Amino acid sequence: MCGIVGYVGDRTALPFLIDGLKKLEYRGYDSAGVAMVDGNSALVEKCEGRIQALEERLLHNHIEGKVGIGHTRWATHGKPSDTNAHPHTDCAGEIAVVHNGIIENYARIREFLQKRGHVFRSETDTEVMPHLIEHYYEGNLEKAVQRAAKDLHGSYAMAVVSTKEPDKIVAVRNLSPLIVGLGQGENYLASDIPALLNHTRETIVLEDGEMAVITRDSVRVLSLSGEEREKNTFFVPWDPVQAERGGYPHFMLKEIHEQPGALSETLRGRLSPDGRVVLTEMTMTEAEALAINRVFLVACGTAFHAGMVGKYFIERIVGIPAEVDLASEFRYRNPVITPGSLLVVVSQSGETADTLAALREGKARGCRVIAITNVVGSSVAREADDVIYTWAGPEIAVASTKAYTTQVEALSLLALYIAQMRGHMDIYQLNEYVMHLRMLPRKAQETLERCAPVQELARELAAHDDVFFIGRGVDYASALEGQLKLKEISYIHAEAYAAGELKHGTLALITENVPVIALATQKEVLEKMISNITEVRARGARVIIITADGLEGLDEYSSSIIRVPDTHPLLMPVLTAIPQQLLAYYAAVYRGCDVDKPRNLAKSVTVE
Ligand code: M6R
Repeated sequence: MCGIVGYVGDRTALPFLIDGLKKLEYRGYDSAGVAMVDGNSALVEKCEGRIQALEERLLHNHIEGKVGIGHTRWATHGKPSDTNAHPHTDCAGEIAVVHNGIIENYARIREFLQKRGHVFRSETDTEVMPHLIEHYYEGNLEKAVQRAAKDLHGSYAMAVVSTKEPDKIVAVRNLSPLIVGLGQGENYLASDIPALLNHTRETIVLEDGEMAVITRDSVRVLSLSGEEREKNTFFVPWDPVQAERGGYPHFMLKEIHEQPGALSETLRGRLSPDGRVVLTEMTMTEAEALAINRVFLVACGTAFHAGMVGKYFIERIVGIPAEVDLASEFRYRNPVITPGSLLVVVSQSGETADTLAALREGKARGCRVIAITNVVGSSVAREADDVIYTWAGPEIAVASTKAYTTQVEALSLLALYIAQMRGHMDIYQLNEYVMHLRMLPRKAQETLERCAPVQELARELAAHDDVFFIGRGVDYASALEGQLKLKEISYIHAEAYAAGELKHGTLALITENVPVIALATQKEVLEKMISNITEVRARGARVIIITADGLEGLDEYSSSIIRVPDTHPLLMPVLTAIPQQLLAYYAAVYRGCDVDKPRNLAKSVTVE
């Protein structure tokens, strides 16, 4: 949540800061601001609203400087307002700070500083930072920041500039990502890779508890106790073009259409000609694979829905019991973790605070951890024992689309790989799965081509206030993903139910013309599903069925029917996600919503 950028170089910092903030706007977008150091004062411009509002302000109040920091905010402490927007400054207006995360002990620090005469202007937790640095400053910014950081509890990434040392940015990472970009005669700072892509792909990724001192010609990384750290340079594998809209009206629509390519990239090199799964990146030994006796799949939001499908893969393909947990619940529910427990965390960004905390909890309790993530070098990738990357490319829209379908695909690869190592599957079964996987990108493309009628259905949905989704088995996971997508971007109230569960209460809400989206791709429960569809139709529901080729007898039960190509039943969530994503997308467009930046949300949730 929130985005940080920074620039130190020979040019004026503003163009980089604004460009970088626009690239990070998906991380938070209720207010924005910049600070630049010029001579004796830190020049700050900030306001409530989007980056565009900030740009308009800057037209009337142009500020310049060759060292600067910027921020786009997702409010935690204090409502979105000009005053609460970052950067925040100290009493003298000489030190400016931008911050991501939460300072848990800010109230105590604020009181301490107020007693010593510091005057606060905002309601934010962040404002304690510049005042605390001011309090500790004795001629060395680096040391003052180190000293202040030791007093701060919580998760944060901060960037600091000061007129007293106008040639540098000092940045600290603690549980919230920060990356230094390396340039020629200039260096950059960002909380997220897309801000850097137009300028450099050579980076240094800071670890928790590390501080960077960035000048025009140098980057020093230190621990918070002041020891110098040797850091490797990390080359970002993403192409800058991937982070542009490329002619689409929204990133979400572009990313929906990128799915065939993303699915194919995620499979690249991972299926052998003789029909086996090859995951060269895995360090897990055969003995370790054989020792697994239980799998926990842990994630948030859309990634959690992928995890639900993963549970089916693990149980059906590997034959091991699997549990799926919301990351925010996992660490506090005291799960029974015994030797042989495997933890699989799923996260597009690899930075979600709850998922990261669950990973650490699992590791502390002795679990082997496998991460499925889309961001190379992200926190979960670095902390897990093994990583399976989804090669979906940057996902910018807040609503997750290609990340989800590639996560499901990656989870199927993981299950097949473990089953293969344990000798759990015969080669014919394995080859059959692999064949279905090979055809998946093409079938995703075909699904997209069949989705033209979805736009009209979305127009109808857009007029409703409540929509229900039902499904059984993996279709229930798909229904949950479909309803999340719809409510997240169109603000239509949507709920998903296991189809057999409706009659235990929710059927009371099904009245004349209420739209019910019924996912019916699982042959083994098709008759049961038809009964559930009949139940809602009997109450007047308008039923849209999403099913697959080859499943007959459904037309008479639906007002509209969308068919995806046939695939393995467990891989259906990949294909059925696509019409649901488009339904949500077009419904949001018809309702005039800001599709890529839905209200109150942010792409990467780095606070608990
Ligand atoms: O980056 P992550 O996959 O860990 O993010 C998890 C959720 O915050 C994310 O999937 C969220 O639910 C999406 N906005 C849904 O579209």
